[in-house]
Amino acid sequence: MSNAPKVRGAFLTALNRPVLVRPSDAEATIVLDAATIPADVSLPVVVRLGEETYEVTATPRGEREISGRVALVTGGAQGFGAEIAKGLVDQGCFVFIADLNGDGAAAKCAELGAELTHPIIVNVADEESVAAMAAEVERVAGGLDLVISNAGIVRAGSVLEQDTSAFRLSTDINYVAFFLVTKHLGGLLARQHEAAPGWLTDIIQINSKSGLVGSNKNAAYAGSKFGGIGLVQSFALELVEHGIKVNAVCPGNFYDGPLWSDPDRGLFVQYLNSGKVPGATTIEDVRAFYEAKVPMRRGTTGIDVLRAIYYIVEQAYETGQAVPVTGGQVMLSA
Ligand SMILES: NC(=O)c1ccc[n+]([C@@H]2O[C@H](COP(=O)([O-])OP(=O)(O)OC[C@H]3O[C@@H](n4cnc5c(N)ncnc54)[C@H](O)[C@@H]3O)[C@@H](O)[C@H]2O)c1
Repeated sequence: MSNAPKVRGAFLTALNRPVLVRPSDAEATIVLDAATIPADVSLPVVVRLGEETYEVTATPRGEREISGRVALVTGGAQGFGAEIAKGLVDQGCFVFIADLNGDGAAAKCAELGAELTHPIIVNVADEESVAAMAAEVERVAGGLDLVISNAGIVRAGSVLEQDTSAFRLSTDINYVAFFLVTKHLGGLLARQHEAAPGWLTDIIQINSKSGLVGSNKNAAYAGSKFGGIGLVQSFALELVEHGIKVNAVCPGNFYDGPLWSDPDRGLFVQYLNSGKVPGATTIEDVRAFYEAKVPMRRGTTGIDVLRAIYYIVEQAYETGQAVPVTGGQVMLSA
């Protein structure tokens, strides 16, 4: 563990804006042991705390409160995660794209620009791998402001027939991994908070409408997502003392993304083969069946999810919530 989160926290407090904190060999112009940071300090600047020297740089600021924040998106190589990463970079955020698919993460970073992205290979279901991800974030940015726990899988199937291994895999990646990501990145956010008591940060789980209502022949997925809401509420209660808000976004179906449309492993194919849609004989039948269930008659898109993320981050007075983004398909009840 380094002093970087403490340095980042000190700058968040002094400047009330996100910064990147990276180890440096240059001569320090501010020694943090001896001085507080002047509010008019201009960035970049080299600072020393104890034996460690860091360069502190600014991220681009835009009109939105979220702009320039340092974010991490798990499962950011494709699908919703890639849409979220792109939207955040467009807002000037520095985004870690963390994915099991290392090539995909690197390609997405290259596409979005190396200045504001950093790829990480991670298996979110493996604690050592998640701990290494947190250490890399600390090394590259000194801390962060926003964690998007997005990586997830679907293994549809009847409870009477599904392999237990598929059920456990869904639980590990959709449910246990959210605990691991919150444990390790939440720990980093809490260390940063010690030096930035007035700076709020966010952990957001990309959940699902299937975390709010059951899903026929899809229990492994829905169960793991329902569990995620319980974790969100419980983490929110605990982490509020560290200035961390914890919320979920519950999207409806992203029909144009690979999760649904992949020709071999996509949900349209899985649901067709598992007989989940009565009478469906083609993929088009399955798609029409699902679109007809949405009052707004279309699937969820990346910008729909991004707007919910902007709301959650910019709303300083809410935590422990699950925000549906479903075109009216699922409505909250008291
Ligand atoms: N697609 C939808 O219709 C839909 C609807 C509601 C909610 N969601 C949720 O949105 C999230 C993203 O879904 P998507 O449709 O974009 O999925 P996707 O399959 O298109 O992408 C998932 C990404 O996560 C990565 N990933 C998978 N396992 C991982 C692991 N163990 N460690 C790290 N990365 C891993 C994959 O490599 C991939 O890049 C999921 O949590 C999903 O449950 C999706």
